[in-house]
Amino acid sequence: MRVLTYSDYDEMSAAAARMIASRIAQLPEPVLGLATGSTPIGMYSELARIHDEEGLDFSRTTTFNLDEYWGLAPDDPRSYKWFMKGHLFSRVNLDPARTHVPRGVDVDPDAECQRYERLIEESGGIDLQVLGIGMNGHIGFNEPGADPNSRTRLVRLAQQTVDVNRAKGGLDSLPGYALSMGIGTIMEAKEILLLANGEGKAEIIRRALRGPVTRDVPASLLQTHPNVVCMLDKPAAKLLDLP
Ligand code: GLP
Repeated sequence: MRVLTYSDYDEMSAAAARMIASRIAQLPEPVLGLATGSTPIGMYSELARIHDEEGLDFSRTTTFNLDEYWGLAPDDPRSYKWFMKGHLFSRVNLDPARTHVPRGVDVDPDAECQRYERLIEESGGIDLQVLGIGMNGHIGFNEPGADPNSRTRLVRLAQQTVDVNRAKGGLDSLPGYALSMGIGTIMEAKEILLLANGEGKAEIIRRALRGPVTRDVPASLLQTHPNVVCMLDKPAAKLLDLP
């Protein structure tokens, strides 16, 4: 795993956006895996800026989001579909038919998860998967204990995850379940970009990058992936003993 540190959040976000922009420019039909949460917001803004000011063309790009809350409609401001529209989809020239987020309502969950896996496969697989990390080491919504071979499925969220995400969003309520790509799905991405910022993430980043590979810390499983870049701001990297 390549670990890169940046002096602050803006620098980390700019570097992450540059990496994505270069894949979009290089690949004939780029397929991106996308994440939500507060971490990638700066990266999405920077991608929108590169689109506006440098003409980065998203029209050949396909995207797959990691997860969606089970029970939230796409026009619910708490949904990840809504988040993606606001932060990226409406700001660049992505073809709506090529942007995919699992559907959290009006579907049979198992059928929806199978459909999602099929779509990823039919697209040729994910070239670059962006990941944040939860306070308990979750990636996507794969909570501690998740099967390393898991595929897209309905998952129950840890109470800590619901509480943290509710507090961050200033929300009264959030569902306790979600549809999430599995760890097996994520590990099939050709390249992974893991992002974390802020001192609050320092301990979980230390466990994920330097601790044992264990399903108790889902992000630690990334140590076994051959092509991971981890971008951190200084506070998130502070327990790593980097030169
Ligand atoms: C949610 C998402 C994860 C994300 C995590 C971290 O739980 N499902 O994909 O990585 O939040 O969020 P934040 O970036 O706000 O710390």
